[in-house]
Amino acid sequence: MQQLDGRVAFVTGAGRGIGRAIALRLAEAGAQVAVTDADEATARAVAAECGAGRPVRARALGLRVDVTDPASVREAVARTGQTLGPIDVLVNNAGWDKMEPFLESSEETWERVIAINLKGVLNCVKAVLPGMVERGGGCIVSISSDAARVGSSGEAVYAAAKAGIIAFSKTVAREVARQQINVNVVCPGPTNTDLFREVAAANPRLGDALKRAVPFGRLAEPGEIAAAVAFLVSDDARFITGQTLSVSGGLTMI
Ligand SMILES: NC(=O)c1ccc[n+]([C@@H]2O[C@H](COP(=O)([O-])OP(=O)(O)OC[C@H]3O[C@@H](n4cnc5c(N)ncnc54)[C@H](O)[C@@H]3O)[C@@H](O)[C@H]2O)c1
Repeated sequence: MQQLDGRVAFVTGAGRGIGRAIALRLAEAGAQVAVTDADEATARAVAAECGAGRPVRARALGLRVDVTDPASVREAVARTGQTLGPIDVLVNNAGWDKMEPFLESSEETWERVIAINLKGVLNCVKAVLPGMVERGGGCIVSISSDAARVGSSGEAVYAAAKAGIIAFSKTVAREVARQQINVNVVCPGPTNTDLFREVAAANPRLGDALKRAVPFGRLAEPGEIAAAVAFLVSDDARFITGQTLSVSGGLTMI
């Protein structure tokens, strides 16, 4: 019997990077995973990876979901319910960043950063939480960033949106604690994904500086973030709620 046998998980931004690693890790632990991403092809590809070599009962579903669009989120939540069953685990992972000094940033960029990183989380929680409340249980983990805890030059609005996730999660954790719903946050530090590589390619000095700032002296691997998420949605963490866990090789010690 694996830790997540029979559970249904809904993971956003799971077509690549950290989200993909989370989807694969939850599937490995026995969950049936709705792999969702704005890019449908990658969502389907990762769903196929989740299902590979596993029994028919352990299905995975690849769906196109734009987390900034509440209707798209609601539709995917309903499809997941019909196909895999009610959602027990929600992982809000979809995110986006554009590194630039705040004084050079535009309102259009702020809006996109906030829509994906903060409003996307609100949309998903709003769609999934009522079912968890009704059934009296569930786990939500949202992916924030160490940028939210200690600040990060070139990421002012992103850090603000990611800090919003932390405050939002603590408050929702209090509101639904009596229904035995766990709401927690994982903060990656610099992690070896396409997003990081794109940011570092545009600004190589910054990429190197970020690596050097990590006490362990290297980037996180996506699987290391996924391991923390898998713990927080497991029964081993059932008395943990409203917490923020940095997975960053010691970058943030608070
Ligand atoms: N990589 C890092 O160094 C790092 C550090 C701290 C926090 N994070 C956070 O971790 C999460 C995953 O980051 P990653 O590095 O794997 O990023 P990534 O860019 O490699 O993957 C993000 C995925 O989200 C999807 N996505 C983007 N906008 C979306 C939308 N509107 N709706 C649905 N899906 C959407 C993308 O298609 C992509 O597949 C993000 O929330 C990011 O902010 C990353």
